[in-house]
Amino acid sequence: MEHHPSAPVIPLSVARNPGPLRGTIRVPGDKSISHRALMLASLAEGRTVVTGLLEGEDVLRTADAMRALGATITREADQWVIDGKGVGALQEPADVLDMGNSGTAARLLSGILSSHAITSFMTGDASLRGRPMRRVTQPLAGNGACFATRLGEKLPMAIIGTGEATPLSYCLPVASAQVKSAILLAGLNAEGRTRVEEPVATRDHTENMLRHFGVGVDVGLTPTGGRIITLEGRARLVARDVVVPADPSSAAFPIVAASLVPGSEIRLPGVGLNPLRTGLFTTLREMGAVLDIENERVEGGEPVGDLVVRSAALRGVDVPADRAPSMIDEYPVLAVACAFASGTSRLRGLEELRVKESDRLSATVALLKANGADVRVEGDDMIIEGRGSAEGLGGGLVETQMDHRLAMSAIVFGLAAEKPVLVDDTGFINTSFPGFVSLMAALGAVL
Ligand code: S3P
Repeated sequence: MEHHPSAPVIPLSVARNPGPLRGTIRVPGDKSISHRALMLASLAEGRTVVTGLLEGEDVLRTADAMRALGATITREADQWVIDGKGVGALQEPADVLDMGNSGTAARLLSGILSSHAITSFMTGDASLRGRPMRRVTQPLAGNGACFATRLGEKLPMAIIGTGEATPLSYCLPVASAQVKSAILLAGLNAEGRTRVEEPVATRDHTENMLRHFGVGVDVGLTPTGGRIITLEGRARLVARDVVVPADPSSAAFPIVAASLVPGSEIRLPGVGLNPLRTGLFTTLREMGAVLDIENERVEGGEPVGDLVVRSAALRGVDVPADRAPSMIDEYPVLAVACAFASGTSRLRGLEELRVKESDRLSATVALLKANGADVRVEGDDMIIEGRGSAEGLGGGLVETQMDHRLAMSAIVFGLAAEKPVLVDDTGFINTSFPGFVSLMAALGAVL
């Protein structure tokens, strides 16, 4: 499905306070891992079978792009089969690569393209065309690639890659797994050792999956708790099957809904529990949420478990800034939880939220304010004075601003609130969580 600002939006949706949410649902595959599975399988030699791939719009854009670069990608029954081209062997795409709404697809692919001797052109939807690309073009240009972007280093852009890439050594100025991954992926086809230093650890799915495909990735710790990641270029990736866990960032929405709607009890099997992704679970527990993990195991190189969530009275929380990378996509729905909790919450260090699919800091504040919550921003912190109940909350119209996570957060607000919440466009939910509305309805939600 194409989404342009001029295209008709999916009509207004209403989320209403239901009875208790109950049942078991399987949330779709992890978005971060799904992008990486398609990219690395396309760079591998041989055939990779992926189970549990997220079939959301963002990931389908990555599949299209990798096909345009020469990989063979097909869906067979409920698995995805990829015949890779090998590192250095991608072919010039015949048309512009359209990454849709996906910053991850655009940034990671920029890294891969920078160290291939091909010229390509990349664009995205209105949201992605407004997002900063300098964070990847600036370091990647150091390997010999050339980027021509719009003013402000925005998409569309042309990428003139090099087959003789210099390995990069780069210290991340922002905590971004996308930037780290772009540099590591560029290094796969550079002669010599690529090095990335991250002062704060960010999700390590690229490192894990590179190892899974047979690439030696070394990770050292800095004295201040950061990480130094190195890999040797001119690498050979050997095809290996991938099992994608359910996405903890998607699980966040039913988890917060079940925590807030009295009498709820839900079970979410096979959710990814990579410790660099579980900041929300830690935070919700600090708020008094009842969130149990059963059957912890390792699947496809990533820890997973079955989550059981029961409703609970939540209290306000103070979330430290250094936790942000492990829950960066979960702040909108955490802010919803804080609006219903008793007492003050302070969510610290949210500057990166300003450059997501929307300016999520101001969009989350607008979501809460439109629905009667008491919220303000001080510097990069969001402060929410929780109501301690559903009373008087809801009744607003939420503008989703082409942002899937805002749409789902607004629906969760509506399920917990006294008054219904209107959402202007739920179409973007398909970028990361196809089936969200029907899965929530299966739990008893009224949508
Ligand atoms: C992602 C990294 C994060 C996150 C995004 C997915 C990834 O972005 O917000 O949804 O898959 O690497 P940043 O790297 O910009 O923090």
